[in-house]
Amino acid sequence: MPVIKISDNVYSVGVRHPDLKVFDLLMPLAYGTTYNSFLIKGEKNVLIDTVKLKFFDEFFQNLKEVIEPSKIDYIVIQHNELDHAGSLLSLLKFAPAARIIISKTAENFLANSFNIKLDFIKVDDSTEIKIGENRSLKFVSAPFLHWPDTMFTYFKEEKMLFTCDAFGAHYCPKNGIYSAEMSKEEYENDYFRQFKVYYEIIMRLYSTKVVAAYNKIKDLEIDLLLPAHGPIINSDIARHIKYYTDWSFSAPDPGLKKVTIVYSSMYGSTMKMAYHIESLLKNRGVKTFTAEIPFAMSESQMSEVIKEISTSDAVLFGSSTVCATVLKPIWDFLFFLATVELKGKSAGVFGSFGWDPQGLKIIELVLTNYKMKLIKDMYKIKFVPSEDKLLASETFVDELIASMNGA
Ligand SMILES: Cc1cc2nc3c(=O)[nH]c(=O)nc-3n(C[C@H](O)[C@H](O)[C@H](O)COP(=O)(O)O)c2cc1C
Ligand SMILES: [Fe+2]
Ligand SMILES: [Fe+2]
Repeated sequence: MPVIKISDNVYSVGVRHPDLKVFDLLMPLAYGTTYNSFLIKGEKNVLIDTVKLKFFDEFFQNLKEVIEPSKIDYIVIQHNELDHAGSLLSLLKFAPAARIIISKTAENFLANSFNIKLDFIKVDDSTEIKIGENRSLKFVSAPFLHWPDTMFTYFKEEKMLFTCDAFGAHYCPKNGIYSAEMSKEEYENDYFRQFKVYYEIIMRLYSTKVVAAYNKIKDLEIDLLLPAHGPIINSDIARHIKYYTDWSFSAPDPGLKKVTIVYSSMYGSTMKMAYHIESLLKNRGVKTFTAEIPFAMSESQMSEVIKEISTSDAVLFGSSTVCATVLKPIWDFLFFLATVELKGKSAGVFGSFGWDPQGLKIIELVLTNYKMKLIKDMYKIKFVPSEDKLLASETFVDELIASMNGA
């Protein structure tokens, strides 16, 4: 990425990683990503975040275009994940006098990431660091967006808010670095979808923390949002911020209780159980959403089910047992549920098996780890369900309803 002058004193010195296909072995990427880093030049020279170490050479060339690196006074590390902090030690070799600015929570993280003793300036919401005549930086701690150490940096005189991963998107713009430089089509179809996916996968789990951070920044004057991935946001700023809060408040459904049932099934036995349980719940006045989890689930199928789960009072998981474990689609699905707040929701496990329902025990273990409120007994049927075998669904449903009602 070429160096771009953002204002008289601020430069973008980050890099692009357009061919990255998966981020953190977690998120498939359709448009690669960028690692954004910003230099504020002036009486004091401040670098905000670095880039992934693999890109240090390019980053260093960028920096040298605008500053002699030894003249950097401060390096702000807004978050310790190595996609942003990774070049810190390499850079310090050329900027030995630079002071490192971090949040209070970050000290231990940085110490354990770099395993050497570094000298920090620890800041919080009350800190203001003067960087010139009438110019200063303020900090906004934003814990859990998405690590405990995350903070934002506010440059009031330029109305710029640097937000690290928050408001980011894994998106390499086709041209330029600003959101407003995109065509309407690229903006809506490509970039904005990635902005939403980023929220869903990285931030949704911490939605209460998102709201807390929003309350701290909502009255700031902001002309530019400068996240650490994707374009600099100079269009619809208020909308981008509001989306984060809108997505974070999922209004509870008043009235009826709701249960989401997910299942995978090879020969349809577990599926029969799922639909029988669904009909019993419906008869008892409970709203239901039932979804088969297929072998390869698309992002949009996944996010539809996840949306239903996040507004449900309870979730039921069905799988048969194969080779002493759970069916692969349910394994994958359970992994992705790590991005949803499940704590306290009621849960139950059911499925068909042949000789030992070990798959169901694995699901229970994972749900316990997610702090779901598991009903006592799993509901299992040997091989193919019959009307007789399905009678036990009644007890299972009773237990689930009692659990949703606070038992
Ligand atoms: C390849 C394969 C491996 C299996 N492994 C186990 C097992 O380890 N333990 C068990 O109790 N049942 C095992 N079964 C039996 C299934 O759990 C049983 O056929 C079940 O009824 C399938 O339900 P479904 O139609 O909902 O998938 C296995 C079945 C298959 C096809
Ligand atoms: Fe991160
Ligand atoms: Fe990141």
